Amino acid sequence: MVQGDREGTGGPSALQKRVIELEAHLERLQDSDRQLRLFIDSVRDYALIALDTNNCVTGWNAGAERILGYQEHEILGKPGSVIFTPEDIEGGNMQLEFDTARQTGRAEDERWHVRKDGSRFWGSGVLARIDDEEGNLVGYGKVMRDLTERNARQQRNLLTVQENERRRIARELHDDLVQRLAVLEIGLARIRRGLPPEAADIGLELLRLEQQTGMLSNDVRRLSHQLHPSVVDDLGLCTALESIVEEFQRDQGQEFTFLCEGVPEKIPTNIATAIYRIAQEALRNIAKHASGPGGLRVIGEGRMLHLTVSDAGPGFDVPAAYRGGLGILSMKERTQLLGGQFSVTSNAGGSTTVDVLVPLQEDY
Ligand SMILES: Nc1ncnc2c1ncn2[C@@H]1O[C@H](COP(=O)(O)OP(=O)(O)O)[C@@H](O)[C@H]1O
Ligand SMILES: [Mg+2]
Repeated sequence: MVQGDREGTGGPSALQKRVIELEAHLERLQDSDRQLRLFIDSVRDYALIALDTNNCVTGWNAGAERILGYQEHEILGKPGSVIFTPEDIEGGNMQLEFDTARQTGRAEDERWHVRKDGSRFWGSGVLARIDDEEGNLVGYGKVMRDLTERNARQQRNLLTVQENERRRIARELHDDLVQRLAVLEIGLARIRRGLPPEAADIGLELLRLEQQTGMLSNDVRRLSHQLHPSVVDDLGLCTALESIVEEFQRDQGQEFTFLCEGVPEKIPTNIATAIYRIAQEALRNIAKHASGPGGLRVIGEGRMLHLTVSDAGPGFDVPAAYRGGLGILSMKERTQLLGGQFSVTSNAGGSTTVDVLVPLQEDY
């Protein structure tokens, strides 16, 4: 029997063959390792983080750099806890996540995380336990996504749906109910005028019903305007704002200035509606918590729209108010959803100013 690998025959020995095989295997391993590395780094929408058994970072991809702000060399070896909020660390939620992953293999979470610059984002992810071939724990892998933009999009959609529904109900109230009440009022007046002189008592009663119907109709009209500022659609933002300022002056009997300047005729509906809602809430707050004199100004400055609403005090503790009410929070949220900047400045004993600056870009 001829053996081709025997020494002296010119063919490779068994050992040489084995070495060639191993080299090829190693090359394949290096290739797939490089490919895996390239793949991990090309994932930019997800943060992929590897941690050792002490929860220190051992791997950090480009997605993690983008989402969390740390470069790989800055974070390697650091405790993974840096991306958790102090509340989650102190409250034991971070520990619970690691314990769950260790005990069950994985832990899913949706929570606030902290970027390098201290800002926070809403992240969703999975922490998985990593074992070696013998089943011993060697570390953890975390895959995480920043959901802030998705949440903002959902919030914008929700606001649009809510505004459309309000618009529908407002139109229904205004175009149907108010008209039918007007017909009722006219009918009552006609009966009253046709009454013989001896039925003066009934006439008086009918007059009272007519007046009540008139008041009811006014209330429904006012409600429909509050529900949806159809004037914003029909007559534009300035006219709509002027009408709520006039209503405010009438109700409050306070000196209140109004200025609308440089506002383009056609601005996207979502921006006009948001500005109107913010102005409505700011005026409601003055009616409830403050007093005049004050003013409302809307100024178009290039591609920006600037709204300011100010009053004469008594002022309040703004950080505490953010925790308390919903009005200020919703003004801020509406502004931020338009990519704008919101601020309230107030000093105890002094005036309060609500400032809203939004870009006049296209509809979302
Ligand atoms: N213009 C203002 N002047 C004085 N205090 C104000 C003013 N606006 C808001 N506040 C204070 O901030 C708190 C929170 O306001 P807000 O979020 O609109 O909720 P709400 O008006 O329902 O209380 C109010 O309860 C009030 O104490
Ligand atoms: Mg309020």
